[in-house]
Amino acid sequence: MSQLVILLPLLFIFQVVDSAPPPHACDPSNPATKLYQFCRTDLQISNRAHDLVSRLTVDEKISQLVNTAPGIPRLGVPAYEWWSEALHGIAYTGPGTWFNGTVKAATSFPQVILTAASFDSYEWFRIGQAIGEEARGMYNAGQANGMTFWAPNINIFRDPRWGRGQETPGEDPTMTGSYAVAYVRGLQGDSFDGRKVLSGAHLQASACCKHFTAYDLDRWKGVTRYVFNAQVSLADMAETYQPPFKKCVEEGRATCIMCAYTRVNGIPSCADPNLLTHTVRGLWGFRGYIASDCDAVSLIYEAQGYAKSHEDAVGDVLKAGMDVNCGSYLQKHTKSALQQKKVSESDIDRALLNLFSVRIRLGLFNGDPTKLPYGNISPKDVCSPAHEALALDAARNGIVLLKNNLKLLPLSKSSSSLAVIGPNANAARTLLGNYAGPPCKTVTPLDALRGYVKNAVYHQGCDAVVCSNADINQAVAIARNADHVVLIMGLDQTQEKEDLDRVSLTLPGKQQDLITSAANAAKKPVVLVLICGGPVDVSFATNNDKIGSIIWAGYPGEAGGIALAEIIFGDHNPGGRLPVTWYPQSFVNVKMTDMRMRSATGYPGRTYKFYKGPKVFEFGHGLSYSKYSYRFKNLPETKLYLNQSKALLNSDSVRYALVSEMEKEACNVAKTKVTVTVENQGEMAGKHPVLMFARHERGGEDGKRAEKQLVGFKSIVLSYGEKAEMEFEIGLCEHLSRANEVGVMVVEEGKYFLTVGDSELPLTVNV
Ligand SMILES: *[C@@H]1O[C@H](CO)[C@@H](O)[C@H](O)[C@H]1NC(C)=O
Ligand SMILES: *[C@@H]1O[C@H](CO)[C@@H](O)[C@H](O)[C@H]1NC(C)=O
Repeated sequence: MSQLVILLPLLFIFQVVDSAPPPHACDPSNPATKLYQFCRTDLQISNRAHDLVSRLTVDEKISQLVNTAPGIPRLGVPAYEWWSEALHGIAYTGPGTWFNGTVKAATSFPQVILTAASFDSYEWFRIGQAIGEEARGMYNAGQANGMTFWAPNINIFRDPRWGRGQETPGEDPTMTGSYAVAYVRGLQGDSFDGRKVLSGAHLQASACCKHFTAYDLDRWKGVTRYVFNAQVSLADMAETYQPPFKKCVEEGRATCIMCAYTRVNGIPSCADPNLLTHTVRGLWGFRGYIASDCDAVSLIYEAQGYAKSHEDAVGDVLKAGMDVNCGSYLQKHTKSALQQKKVSESDIDRALLNLFSVRIRLGLFNGDPTKLPYGNISPKDVCSPAHEALALDAARNGIVLLKNNLKLLPLSKSSSSLAVIGPNANAARTLLGNYAGPPCKTVTPLDALRGYVKNAVYHQGCDAVVCSNADINQAVAIARNADHVVLIMGLDQTQEKEDLDRVSLTLPGKQQDLITSAANAAKKPVVLVLICGGPVDVSFATNNDKIGSIIWAGYPGEAGGIALAEIIFGDHNPGGRLPVTWYPQSFVNVKMTDMRMRSATGYPGRTYKFYKGPKVFEFGHGLSYSKYSYRFKNLPETKLYLNQSKALLNSDSVRYALVSEMEKEACNVAKTKVTVTVENQGEMAGKHPVLMFARHERGGEDGKRAEKQLVGFKSIVLSYGEKAEMEFEIGLCEHLSRANEVGVMVVEEGKYFLTVGDSELPLTVNV
């Protein structure tokens, strides 16, 4: 009895704390707010934002130009934190969300490079959706004071050494653009087809496509991203670096773009009006805010010497079209920049209109957000069974089987003894990659393998992933005595991360020795698992029959250990395919600072589209326990005509038309549908991504055209022996164009081939 008396008031207190509404403006209990137009939900968002900005003093305005924006209590506007991160789940990084309340963890999806390997844009959409929902759940629970997330990272994974390549969807611009669209629509609360946000619905959360643009070097042999000046040709800009951002804005309708640290052709991205205002806002129709990467503005003066004073740097970015500075630089130097007339109040007003418009679109100026759409999302929706199942599915669908000689895998579930060796076998944190938060659960590969073979013997093998010291004798002794050996090796954040690029593509330290020695000692060929974001040169293993199978597991997230064990023991049929080219070690002779995509004398080029050297594994490589066959449906010869009277002749006498000069109509009409029959000829049901490429008959022979380019990808689930037809739509302007020397997209006349696996379909294009 007396216990109850004590408990009840406590419960009551918790209830009150729990149900306090999250930060918001325009509280109806504050009578003043009834007079503010910015609180009127019947008015247009731009009018509301304009009303708010017009009420601010100059000092209040300046205070809002940084990521940690203070409240404006006299107007009932709370503080706001622009910076939160959600690359593959709500992350620790970014001060706008915290895990010290009811919500102590968030679903940790695979690191993006592995998620990309599923080639399944609907899955990407659902992950974005789940992350946005968890973000809202945390906000509603009072564990966030921002709803703006600085993800996805959609820079092209141009160089295999890049420490942040793990954060991206890979090296293909089309695929990266599709990832951006799917993730952004999901996170922002849009529908998969992008209609919901267009019709004016509230945003679930705000996504940010970064880092604009041509940013993909962190720290390599003394060159840092803070001072790197990327020399980018017009052709590469138009065909490689810009398309993902264009798609993110035009189709994804992202509400944020982040400008990068890097200078592009001499101009810091955050200070380039041509990029920010002319291209993003003008040509692409961006509606949202432009954030700087953290401290990028100070670098413009302090490290790059591009601006001659603090005030010049402030003027440069605000006049270029940047709206908010991650850091405190604009807070410190905008007042003097105004006094020195380096910037005008109207430049500041423009930035604030963009910023407040997004806060209003997030539903944070409409009274208590828990009474609005998305208001009923709660901590129960964070780490929900559905989200955790999705994290597991994404890991299953992403993991790539690189080699499987003599069908070594899957291992029989009745294997009586198993040795698990390697520094990544029992490393929980490594599974998550960077920009992670606290995962809902932790299951290491070792834990999950022991779910199949209870007394699996484990040895770490190396002191750490760097593997300066390896206990090879011990590993050999264990390997010799087991029926099967699984080596779980690779990289971690000590080898590749933000601010750290690699200088070698081989496995660190004594890993290779350890693997080879264990493989030599083992009774049967061993299984090598690589946990890493960027590719490694494992040609020693591809060429060694004692290493029967190789699996790439990326950084597979909170459920990755389980997915990996399921694949090894045949409870899941792998279907992932590599989203990047795996280059040999000799690629390190290429300067990472060389931004050229196309090959040239003494330069092999980059990515599957242009690289001309030897490969360890190709972009799109991925085996399965089933064999799939493809056949184009027989069609009369496929022809696409443009009938352009303005067609031109290029230097090698190929007729071509400029996409930009073509009527939209002509582009829209010049499309064809092709059908491929896909058959699962294996013994196991599986989900299989089908990749379609196109190549011009001249391919990459002259270094101008890509060897081939991805024009479509779709997944299909087929049971054993089942076949199905898949339809792809090929648009002349969208899929068969390339950039010419001056960065204009052109369509060339001639014969093209569409390919899926070994199957080809010729296609004739007349311009
Ligand atoms: C949780 O962390 C945030 C941000 O650091 C802080 O503002 C808040 O007071 C903390 N809450 C609790 C309950 O400790
Ligand atoms: C272009 O010309 C071809 C051949 O004369 C004709 O069959 C086709 O319909 C024309 N296409 C368009 C879009 O006008």
